Amino acid sequence: MTDQSSNQMWGGRFAAGPDAIMEAINASIGFDQRMAAQDIAGSRAHAAMLAATGVISDSDAEVIREGLLTVLSEIQNGEFQFSTALEDIHMNVEARLKEIIGEPAGRLHTGRSRNDQVATDFKLWVRDQLDAAENGLLALIRALLAQAEAGADWVMPGFTHLQTAQPVTWGHHMMAYVEMFGRDLSRVRDARARMNESPLGAAALAGTSFPIDRHMTAEALGFDRPAANSLDAVSDRDFALEFLSVASICAVHLSRFAEELVIWSSAQFRFVTLSDRFSTGSSIMPQKKNPDAAELIRAKVGRIFGANTALMMVMKGLPLAYSKDMQEDKEQVFDAADNWMLALAAMEGMVKDMTANRDSLAAAAGSGFSTATDLADWLVRVLGLPFRDAHHVTGSLVAMAEKKGCDLPDLTLDDMQSVHAEITNDVYSVLGVENSVNSRQSYGGTAPDQVRAQVERWKAMV
Ligand code: ARG
Repeated sequence: MTDQSSNQMWGGRFAAGPDAIMEAINASIGFDQRMAAQDIAGSRAHAAMLAATGVISDSDAEVIREGLLTVLSEIQNGEFQFSTALEDIHMNVEARLKEIIGEPAGRLHTGRSRNDQVATDFKLWVRDQLDAAENGLLALIRALLAQAEAGADWVMPGFTHLQTAQPVTWGHHMMAYVEMFGRDLSRVRDARARMNESPLGAAALAGTSFPIDRHMTAEALGFDRPAANSLDAVSDRDFALEFLSVASICAVHLSRFAEELVIWSSAQFRFVTLSDRFSTGSSIMPQKKNPDAAELIRAKVGRIFGANTALMMVMKGLPLAYSKDMQEDKEQVFDAADNWMLALAAMEGMVKDMTANRDSLAAAAGSGFSTATDLADWLVRVLGLPFRDAHHVTGSLVAMAEKKGCDLPDLTLDDMQSVHAEITNDVYSVLGVENSVNSRQSYGGTAPDQVRAQVERWKAMV
């Protein structure tokens, strides 16, 4: 006689129910209930296929379909009683289905296992998140394009080592992020295409002796094809790992941009003003306007990459096929997905609302001897100096200007000629910041024409 508390799904083999601690460590319903819609979609596709292949009757399939719809609406309306004793979303749904429709519910699990079921549900969930990430990235890229278009010719300092290097344009800087988020977008699309194979029907690990049609369920669930090896199908979590690594790289990009916004919005830089809508105040210092959203976006990468590392470690030693370790995949992915989507939306909002302070950008663009390279290039182009010599002459002129406390264009021609006798008045034409950016017409360079060409190229794609 089976113990009353024994599991209703496998109680036949068990004389006693689980210890409370066992139930606590075993259950995933606390988090995997987020896959309820995917679980029910998978079950509906499976039931329809079982009927089409004659494994169950059409009338049973119809009753199952109706019952699953009732379960779904109970879950969506918050009326569903989730039970830890029923461990996970798959068994919670099936048990409730049995309460509603009775015996036919027991036929639903023919030719499948929770192993292919969970892989299917989780893939569908991750696929939805990749679609959401695609939309979030597109929106962010469009916001950056609007900034780039407005400021295609606004000069600002370009930095290396966060030291003034050469003048660039605001549009050029924005477009650098368009390229980065554009690569993220392409990684999202690649990941989606690669993961879109259906595990359903792989059953526990070996396939099934029932005459199921895996192509039919794959198609019903929007997969491109069934996964070709049943062992792999139930033990593959590459799609989750790839989701997390794509998210991690994108989070690195978001974090780098966030860092720039934190620096740029400081009183020392004043390159941008963030909107009130995306800033916070201080409870003690009335003058403060803090870039909290940017700081939190900067921090999210820790969490997202942490999830990536965690799941890599969960998976790394697992023999084929399913092991319960794999239940630890979901919380990492759920948390990373939530925070990735939030970070994308917050960044889009900040970019849309922020104002570039054109005057501060221009003033900074001219400081720090930012046109020293233009001077060296002039010595090469006009006087025919080898670049290394031109570099040396320019270095002496920079040292002279630094000593005098002025910028390069403020040196007199006499000053210049004291370092190199052949320098002429023409040199001043290259020392201006506008001239500097306009001259960088090489493909992908910072010249406003080049920036506008890149904006147009992207606008045609997004
Ligand atoms: N809750 C489980 C998970 O998330 C479902 C699969 C359970 N399969 C099994 N053979 N115990 O991985």
